[in-house]
Amino acid sequence: MASIVVRGGTPLAGSVRVSGSKNASLPILAACLLNEQPVTLHNVPELHDVGVIGEVLESLGAQCGRNAAGDLRVDAARVSGFEPPYELVNKMRASFLVLGPLLARFGEASVPLPGGCAIGARPVGEHLEAMRVLGAEVTQESGRIVARAKKLIGAEIYLNMVSVGASENAIMAATLADGMTTIGNAAEEPEVVDLCHFLRRCGVEIEGIGTNTVIVHGQPRISAAVDYSVIPDRIEAGTYLLALAATGGSGTVSGLHADHLEALLLKLRDCGLHVEVEDHQISVDNRRPLKPANVRTAVYPGFPTDLQPQMTALLTSVQGMSTVTETIFEKRLSHVPELARMGARIQISGNTAVIEGTPGGLTGVPVEAQDLRCSAALVIAGLMARGETRIDGLQHLLRGYERLPEKLTALGGSVSYAEADVTAGGAE
Ligand code: UD1
Repeated sequence: MASIVVRGGTPLAGSVRVSGSKNASLPILAACLLNEQPVTLHNVPELHDVGVIGEVLESLGAQCGRNAAGDLRVDAARVSGFEPPYELVNKMRASFLVLGPLLARFGEASVPLPGGCAIGARPVGEHLEAMRVLGAEVTQESGRIVARAKKLIGAEIYLNMVSVGASENAIMAATLADGMTTIGNAAEEPEVVDLCHFLRRCGVEIEGIGTNTVIVHGQPRISAAVDYSVIPDRIEAGTYLLALAATGGSGTVSGLHADHLEALLLKLRDCGLHVEVEDHQISVDNRRPLKPANVRTAVYPGFPTDLQPQMTALLTSVQGMSTVTETIFEKRLSHVPELARMGARIQISGNTAVIEGTPGGLTGVPVEAQDLRCSAALVIAGLMARGETRIDGLQHLLRGYERLPEKLTALGGSVSYAEADVTAGGAE
């Protein structure tokens, strides 16, 4: 198993620039299937998960590749298949996002049912119900979801729970439906907003973008050669801010949208961290002891579940009692036992991590990452710990962080690869 080695104890300093958003890139790449003309996407990070969705598109007959400038070009003019292979969908749950576009454009999709994953069961019932409301017949055949509709018909969809993926699948399917679709209780995450902006660039009329009621005006076809730049990755940005704060460092994270990080910044300011926001960058300066905090994850604009493990890691070294409650995923505390092995005084009570923070309490030991954000939390813990932390499960980290060891090294951290082999495995 590929690993990363972190030597702790040095406050990070300097500046780092965030990459494009993984979770915005994936649905936008799926949405390229709707478009009969080529699309050029800027600011798409070079990550394992992006490679997987590229392979999914190619398996369906689309052409997908980077040009010399690093832009991703997708040409879905000659898509001929509607059945992405199990081996690809199984690598990454977000592959399920091709369901809506395939059904909308070709009237048929057969997508393997994604299984459970490290952070929870993650059912797709809301995705399927949205397709049914739009008039599709949806069945399960040999482990695949098969959806068929001669023509989707615009309708009123109300999601029973706020789901990022179901909102995205519903929005994409509605673009080629006959008439207008209203999606109530839609997710307001910036990545859903970015998908809507991309679709608008492709010529689709969408109202209520960024609210919980999105209205999509369906059209007969989408045929527009467009260029689009994906938003910066707010979770990557938040991870570097937390790494700076956790190591008692000071520095700047640039190339971001600060308004996407409001919940994190409020919490960090509550903890006493000095935070300065400029146009597209955030600077933090942590030379004073921080105060403990109570954190509860919530849908956007609440505290993001994807920053919960990293925040938990920080709080293990903040003097006093903190709590971190995970409300989105049922099994997203796998970093807690690993942090405890490093010496953190931390216990799980239901869906809450109860932390008795102790400055300087962590020691480097071998640990294992179970999922993407767990691995980021362990890197932050490693940066705070005395000695060397070897983190197994590097493949998780590289799913979501472009050149993370290089970026942390540029900030003065000691982070290196222990082995070169990097393979797949995906939750988010
Ligand atoms: C996306 C993000 C992930 C993030 C999550 C929540 C991507 C590629 N991944 O995942 O990083 O952690 O949003 O912000 O963008 N649910 C159901 N039934 C459904 C759909 C969802 O019960 O049909 C539940 C899930 O099990 C989970 C909750 O709803 O408990 C939220 O999931 P959802 O918002 O759908 O997450 P994803 O889109 O999978």
